[in-house]
Amino acid sequence: LVLILDYGSQYTHLITRRIRSLSIFSLCISGTSSLKSITELNPSVIILSGGPHSVHAAGAPCFPDGFVEYVEKNGVFVLGICYGLQLIVQKLGGEVAVGEKQEYGRMVIEVVKDCGWLFRGKKVGDKQVVWMSHGDEAVKLPVGFEVVARSEEGGIAAVENPRRRFYGLQYHPEVTHSPEGMELLRHFLFDICGVTAGWKMEDVMEEEIKVIKGMVGPDDHVICALSGGVDSTVAATLVHKAIGDRLHCIFVDNGLLRYKEQERVMGTFETDLHLPVTCVDASVQFLSELKGVTDPEKKRKIIGKEFISIFDAFAHDLEKKLGKKPTYLVQGTLYPDVIESCPPPGSGRTHSHTIKSHHNVGGLPKDMKLKLIEPLKLLFKDEVRELGRILDVPVAFLKRHPFPGPGLAVRIPGDVCQGNALDVLRQVDEIFIQAIKDAGIYDEIWQAFAVYLPIKTTGVQGDQRTHSNAVALRAVTSQDGMTADWYYFEHKFLDDVARKICNSVRGVNRVCLDITSKPPSTIEWE
Ligand code: XMP
Repeated sequence: LVLILDYGSQYTHLITRRIRSLSIFSLCISGTSSLKSITELNPSVIILSGGPHSVHAAGAPCFPDGFVEYVEKNGVFVLGICYGLQLIVQKLGGEVAVGEKQEYGRMVIEVVKDCGWLFRGKKVGDKQVVWMSHGDEAVKLPVGFEVVARSEEGGIAAVENPRRRFYGLQYHPEVTHSPEGMELLRHFLFDICGVTAGWKMEDVMEEEIKVIKGMVGPDDHVICALSGGVDSTVAATLVHKAIGDRLHCIFVDNGLLRYKEQERVMGTFETDLHLPVTCVDASVQFLSELKGVTDPEKKRKIIGKEFISIFDAFAHDLEKKLGKKPTYLVQGTLYPDVIESCPPPGSGRTHSHTIKSHHNVGGLPKDMKLKLIEPLKLLFKDEVRELGRILDVPVAFLKRHPFPGPGLAVRIPGDVCQGNALDVLRQVDEIFIQAIKDAGIYDEIWQAFAVYLPIKTTGVQGDQRTHSNAVALRAVTSQDGMTADWYYFEHKFLDDVARKICNSVRGVNRVCLDITSKPPSTIEWE
């Protein structure tokens, strides 16, 4: 295991991902974790991440007491990156000072030591471009450490003490702006630390199935709410493989789904994946509660509340049928959610293993006291897709754009029941998405959808004036949905789509394109 101690750098998760991409299992925990939590994981390599702090600041985060003794006694290799390097230098008796010149962005570094370990194969004077982002810098190294590379300004860029197995980089090898960074990580892990590759998604699957089988007793039953998204589908498929039809899934049609969504996802669940799913058509119930409601937050709350009541009824029906309560609940929680919701050990708060409000179903039965199964909680999104592929989830399904829990309600500003807004929106959205697929650009886009604009404008269609609705098209690129850029379509594509929408969807005479990024806008309109 390669363990990453997180000191708050925006790149920490990237280190974890880069190492996993070398087929090495890596985990990231808080940089202030107790010695016990570190030793329990028994890592062979520990990477101290970068971070926004100064090692001199009061309360600057640090590894626990006894850490240095532990790694030296057990032959654990340590690599400090940026703040991590400064921690090593300071804690082992060197000196870190506020840098005279702060180094941010692209820099050139130069190898200054022959026969070094970190830069083995390179010669003194060899240069490379790296990405730096630091204010403080190491000015005096602890005894036994040597400088192996410097920046052009003379700052320390890389240090090592092979005898004690400590290494440090002032730059970020994990970002693509350090073009030789990945090669260095590979060399460090394989050649210096002697780590062997072998972490495969097939092994993850087998291991998870074993864990689930061990956890769920022969009389236990498990429930799962499927949203139609990738995470809940992969999680359910994995659990189904482990315990068969003691898994009971529910898919709710809330009346706010896309064109033919229910048929499409149910087809995948039943025909492709053989999942035991109950499809509940609750559209009347949802829409009657939403009728006339215009406040976006109220709309979300109503949808969340209805989900809970339907899920509650499903769980109670199941209890009646089985003669006992279901014991477990499957959630498609991913690793980034886990990292974000885990408070640093020692903070007095416990890990977030209470049921948190589900992204897509809005909430969960209150009185069922279900235990959680979160089989994806150590995986990143792309790894979940890879696991899905191994589980035979259709590739097209795995590549679906995200769809929000409140569905089309957040794409109809105001009352979702106004006129035939839902019907119009479904048709427009389908034309837009199909055109994107036909143009072969679906996978370049994070999310694309249509929005119903609750205004009527004048048009002329055939020989007649019309007074019909306008719609907006939105497509964005993004890494994680937190920030987004609008997607640059070719003009011809837009022209074709707009023409097709106005020609085939009754009640629409105007098509607009949303050209705002996030921020200042959000991806959804409500
Ligand atoms: P925004 O609109 O906040 O959306 O920029 C960011 C991402 O989150 C999705 N989204 C939601 N997903 N329940 C969800 O499951 C919600 O209430 C919700 N609101 C927004 C949105 O589609 C985008 O991918």
